[in-house]
Amino acid sequence: MRRVPLVASCRIIGRGSVNWLARRPIVVSLEVTDSCTCYCKHCDHGGPRDESANLKPADYRHYVETLRPCVVQISGGEPLMRADVVDIVRNVKYDGRLPYTILVSNWSEMSEDLYLRLHDAGVDQFSVSLDFPDDRHDVFRGLPGLYDHLSQIIPRCARHGYDDIVLNSCITSENVGEIDAMAGKAREWGVNMCYSAYSPRRTGCQDYFLNSAEQLATLNEGLDRVEARRDSTRWIVNSAGTLDATRRYFAGHGTPGCKAGLRFLVVTPQGQLQPCSMQFKRFPLEERSRMIEEFTATNACDQCYVSIRSYLDKSFPVLLWENVSGFFSFKPQKQNV
Ligand SMILES: C[S@@+](CC[C@H](N)C(=O)[O-])C[C@H]1O[C@@H](n2cnc3c(N)ncnc32)[C@H](O)[C@@H]1O
Ligand code: SF4
Ligand code: SF4
Repeated sequence: MRRVPLVASCRIIGRGSVNWLARRPIVVSLEVTDSCTCYCKHCDHGGPRDESANLKPADYRHYVETLRPCVVQISGGEPLMRADVVDIVRNVKYDGRLPYTILVSNWSEMSEDLYLRLHDAGVDQFSVSLDFPDDRHDVFRGLPGLYDHLSQIIPRCARHGYDDIVLNSCITSENVGEIDAMAGKAREWGVNMCYSAYSPRRTGCQDYFLNSAEQLATLNEGLDRVEARRDSTRWIVNSAGTLDATRRYFAGHGTPGCKAGLRFLVVTPQGQLQPCSMQFKRFPLEERSRMIEEFTATNACDQCYVSIRSYLDKSFPVLLWENVSGFFSFKPQKQNV
């Protein structure tokens, strides 16, 4: 995975330090639509929704100026269903530098031209969901032909050499046996690999959680194989510590210590703030402090270990060290772009 260059790393870490002390969020997830092209088994979205009250691209600049996050995720629903998604990115990245911007998408609507336009507009990282290394992905996502499309478009975009594409695989009881095979697919397509963990909180369904000793053994075996593939190019994007915490999350049926609403938050398509995508208490932008008092201060939910938590539940010194030594870079080095 392409490391963030030295000067940009300093900017991100500088803003992160200020935000940490000022109790402003480090990561903001902009859910730019509730509509989706898929009907995934593990998700509460699926199909078209009312889009009439969605924020407009220019509105996002005000949110970024007010919240001043280090990292923005542009997500949904399916963000590529917004015909104005490039314009949204331009408004998020209005000063051309911060925030580090991640587009989280199923890529059903991605083309090579759109990838390049999004890159030029300021997307730093493309997170592409992949649940299976073959067309079982179509069945799980309820969209025939999706896997074939991905297997063509992802290598084609990767050949541009920006090293900014990451496959994101949400581990469930259905795909736990495919952890290593999905890493193999990432290598074959010339992209990076990241894992996250199923949460039953989104749909209330326990079936996709890892409920048996056999499933936990399969998880550990798969993650051990992934660890053996890890190298200094950082193509396995999760840290070893995060993958260990993922094992503990499944084994212990949860991970306490969530900082939703404080260190990260969600902006709904209509512009309200939510602590996370699975907690639906909403607050206006101006009342973020009230969200911290009324939600974060007493939040005992431990029902997910999605990647946003894996970065932000840590203490400030640990977070800083991991970013300095890992994702961002204080070591001048050869860049890919
Ligand atoms: C909600 S989707 C939105 C963006 C886009 N539609 C996509 O699928 O990438 C973001 C990520 O959440 C994951 N996800 C969906 N349901 C989940 C659940 N119950 N637990 C954990 N992750 C989940 C998806 O696999 C996807 O990687
Ligand atoms: S995981 Fe993403 S693609 Fe699947 S239904 Fe949810 S929002 Fe849509
Ligand atoms: S653990 Fe935190 S981020 Fe996860 S569902 Fe609960 S409140 Fe949301």
